[in-house]
Amino acid sequence: MQVSLIILAAGQGSRMNSDLPKVLHKVAAAPLLHHAMRAGAALSPAKTVVVVGHGGDLVAASAQSYDPEAEIVRQETQSGTAHAVDQARALLADQPGDVIVLYGDTPFIRPETLEAMLEARRSHAVVVLGFEARDPGRYGRLITDGDRLERIVEYRDASDEERAVTLCNSGVICASAKELFSLIAAVGNENAAGEYYLTDVVGLARAAGLSATVVRCAEEETLGVNTRAELAGAEAAFQTRARAELLSDGVTLTAPETVFLALDTVIGRDAIIGPNVLFGPGVTIESGAEIKGFCHLEGCHVSRGADVGPFARLRPGAELAEDVHVGNFVEIKNAILDEGVKVGHLTYIGDADVGEFTNIGAGTVTCNYDGVMKHRTTIGKRAFIGSDTMLVAPVAVGDDALTGSGSVITEDVPAGAVALGRAKQVVKPGLAVKLFEKLRAIKAAKSKG
Ligand code: UD1
Ligand code: MG
Repeated sequence: MQVSLIILAAGQGSRMNSDLPKVLHKVAAAPLLHHAMRAGAALSPAKTVVVVGHGGDLVAASAQSYDPEAEIVRQETQSGTAHAVDQARALLADQPGDVIVLYGDTPFIRPETLEAMLEARRSHAVVVLGFEARDPGRYGRLITDGDRLERIVEYRDASDEERAVTLCNSGVICASAKELFSLIAAVGNENAAGEYYLTDVVGLARAAGLSATVVRCAEEETLGVNTRAELAGAEAAFQTRARAELLSDGVTLTAPETVFLALDTVIGRDAIIGPNVLFGPGVTIESGAEIKGFCHLEGCHVSRGADVGPFARLRPGAELAEDVHVGNFVEIKNAILDEGVKVGHLTYIGDADVGEFTNIGAGTVTCNYDGVMKHRTTIGKRAFIGSDTMLVAPVAVGDDALTGSGSVITEDVPAGAVALGRAKQVVKPGLAVKLFEKLRAIKAAKSKG
């Protein structure tokens, strides 16, 4: 059965007290919106439609950065969840199969839960995702009769008896595209909020003789973010779960509570992650690699057998082949380090290619930026870059070449050559002793006078 997604992301999120649209606030280094899109993407949807409103251009750009095929519709005024879904009518009403509506501010719905909803759709026209709320607060209440869902009543419109119901609406709903849009056409706004409630489609479906049911999930899954405190809570919940998953996948986390993972972090079995390591977006650590304490990684790939840190920074485009060693206070950006390369200490390697088994001495800098443009440094295989070498890019050092410590390398170094780019040392015998005597005499004269 084909399925399409509608992701509601038009709301302002005023309680975030922010200039940034709510769905662009991040959990696990990814906008809330991407979490929702990722859960939906697991169903391989035929179409994904994102409804934007507040901060629409920013939200649209973010949606399409995640999925270039996502389609965007604009809801000019936020007149309710049914009105928001209705904005996708032109794109989806004639679409075969089902539609699932997700909220952009609800990041933790699991793909398995959405699968269960599609499964329930085989026997019911409308399927709503519900949960038993510890504190039902202002959630919509699901009014059921056995397995059947009769209607959803919003808190503001509910009687005391209905408010006592603890089975609540997550907001996620599934129906065939055809039925969803025909039901929405009948939704009115005569309610306490004066809004077009998506939740009304359940009562309308039942009145039309269609069946509706509830699929239940854990409350944690339906956690929505409305405030900064809830954002922090969502971050904590994500991290707790992601760390536990890594541990059970055979990754060693020395101090799990100090490691921060991103939504898309991939770490292979038997990798070891030390304390206080932060993963930004786009990191893959292969099996058996080790990341020592206090590293900051983003947009990088660390291969089997490599070890990184402590106190290293791998920035986007850092590509470490097998058995590479990157030590303390080293920064790597947009650079490919081939097998067995060693960059032990205090070094910046940016916009560079480094051949296998090359050793980069302490304090080396690829001077990649001339103030206007970036340039590349190419270093061959088995080369030895002496400590404190400045490689002024664009520049190339050949295979098996050597640069002397303290060199400023501005011209290409051929394979097998030694390059020295520093002032020749001058030695003046006895001069230091004379100099100190003279200085002491000056100091003594000053303290007398
Ligand atoms: C909604 C449900 C409620 C449910 C709760 C779960 C309705 C009428 N009520 O209430 O039953 O328990 O979610 O969190 O559906 N949005 C738009 N355009 C709009 C209105 C909302 O895009 O015009 C988006 C919001 O950005 C948000 C989502 O839809 O992502 C839900 O809207 P919100 O105003 O939070 O609905 P609730 O009142 O929480
Ligand atoms: Mg809400």
